[in-house]
Amino acid sequence: MNKTWRIGVIGLGARAESFSRKLDGDHPRAKLLAVCDLDADRLEKYCEWCGHGDVRRFCDPAEFFAQKDMDAVIITTPEFAHKESALAAIAAGKHFYLEKAMATNSEDCRAIIRAHRKSKVTAYLGFNMRWNPIFRRFKEIVDSGVAGQIVHVAGLEQLHQTHGAAFMRRFHRHSERSGGLLNTKCAHDLDMLGWLVGHKRRVVKVASFGGTNVFLPQKGPKGRGTHCGRCPEAIRRACPYVDRAGFVFPIDGKEPMHKTREKDVYGGDLCVYHDDKDLVDNQTVILEWNHGVRGNFNMQLFQNKGRRAYSVWGEKALVEMDTSWGEVRVTHSTSGEVQIHAIKPGQGGHGGADRFLIDSFLDAIETGRAPDSDLSAGLAATLLAEKADESRRTGKVIEIRKDEYL
Ligand SMILES: NC(=O)c1ccc[n+]([C@@H]2O[C@H](COP(=O)([O-])OP(=O)(O)OC[C@H]3O[C@@H](n4cnc5c(N)ncnc54)[C@H](O)[C@@H]3O)[C@@H](O)[C@H]2O)c1
Repeated sequence: MNKTWRIGVIGLGARAESFSRKLDGDHPRAKLLAVCDLDADRLEKYCEWCGHGDVRRFCDPAEFFAQKDMDAVIITTPEFAHKESALAAIAAGKHFYLEKAMATNSEDCRAIIRAHRKSKVTAYLGFNMRWNPIFRRFKEIVDSGVAGQIVHVAGLEQLHQTHGAAFMRRFHRHSERSGGLLNTKCAHDLDMLGWLVGHKRRVVKVASFGGTNVFLPQKGPKGRGTHCGRCPEAIRRACPYVDRAGFVFPIDGKEPMHKTREKDVYGGDLCVYHDDKDLVDNQTVILEWNHGVRGNFNMQLFQNKGRRAYSVWGEKALVEMDTSWGEVRVTHSTSGEVQIHAIKPGQGGHGGADRFLIDSFLDAIETGRAPDSDLSAGLAATLLAEKADESRRTGKVIEIRKDEYL
C-alpha cells in the first residue's frame, strides 16, 4: 500500500517530541497533520521548539479528534488522561498508538478494551522496550530453548538519580494520576517479564514490599526552597536531584520547559523532598505464573547510571543481559561453558527502540493484524502494578483471577 498516513499527536510533552519530529519531515509513509494539548502555552512552545510551522493546532481534544482527514493518532497524554484519549480515538474511528502505561488502573484498561472490541480501529500499546535490540536478541535467545525449562525470571530497573527525581515532582507523584511508580515507569518491565515468559501465561500471585526511603521531607537540606527555582544557590548547587533537562520536555534542551498552567498538578520544578506525594522510591515484587514459573523485579532510583538487567534461569542454562554490558551471556548449567552474544547498540531514543515504533504501528494499521504489543499486554502490566501495590499496602499475597485479565 502506498498511502501516506496522516497522523495527529495529542499530549505535547517529552514523549510526544520523539514522535512528532519524525513525522513532520520526510517520513516515507506518514505525515504530521495535527497536534493537540489542553494547555495553549505548551502548544505554542512545543510547536515553536519542534519547528511545526503548518501543522494544525488544537487545545480542544474534541476538535482535534473531529479532523476527518486524520487517519490515526499517537496518544502521549499522561496516564490520567489515557482512558479519555483512547475512548475519544475509538469513538472518532481513528487508529491509535497509546503510550504505556495503558491507564492508571486495570478497570480503565478494561473499559478501553471493551470499547475497542466493538470498533474496527487498530490499537497499539507503546511498549517500546520490546524494540530495543538488546532485549529483542535476549528474547530470541530465551525463545531458542537454550535454557531448557524456564524456572525463574528476574528484572531490575535502576534509574539515574536525575531521572528518578523527575517522577517525584511531576504528575506522577500522585498515584491516582499515574497509577504509582511501578505502573507509570515500570509497566515496561512488568510487560518484559510477561513477554519473556510468554503472554499466554498469567501471573496468578503477587507480593511486594516498597517504601519511600530517600525523598522524604526530613531527608532534605534545611533552608531549601519549595521549588528548585526558589532554592538558595548553595543548596541548589549541592543537590543531586535538582530539576534538569533530559527527562522532561524538551528532551534535548538545556533547560526544562515547564507548563504555565496546572502547576499544582504537574509540579514544575517542585522540590523532591516535598510531602504531598504518595509515590514510593524503591520497590521489590515477587510473582508466580500459572505454569509454575516464579520471578522477581526490583526498582531503584538513586544511581549514577541508568540500566536494566534481566536474567532467565532454566533447567539447562542461565541467560543474562544488562543494558550496560551490550551483550547477552548464556552460562550452561552442567559444563559451565559461557557463550557471549555481543549486541550492536541501537541508534536513537530508548536504546534504538523508538525508531521502529512508528513503522511497527503503521504495519499494524496496514495489515489489520493485531500488533504483538496490544491492549491485553497493557492491561496485564497495569494489573500487575495494581496488585503489587495492593500487596505493598496490605502486607498480603494477592491472587489474580483469570477474568481480571479479560
Ligand atoms: N515509552 C516510553 O519510553 C515513555 C517515555 C516517557 C514517557 N512515556 C509516557 O508518555 C506519556 C506522557 O509523558 P510525558 O513525560 O511526555 O508527559 P508531559 O507531562 O511532559 O506531557 C504531557 C502533556 O499532555 C498534556 N495533556 C494532559 N491531559 C491532556 C488531555 N486530556 N488532552 C490533551 N493534552 C493533555 C499536558 O498538558 C502535557 O503538555 C506518559 O504516559 C508517560 O508514561 C513513555
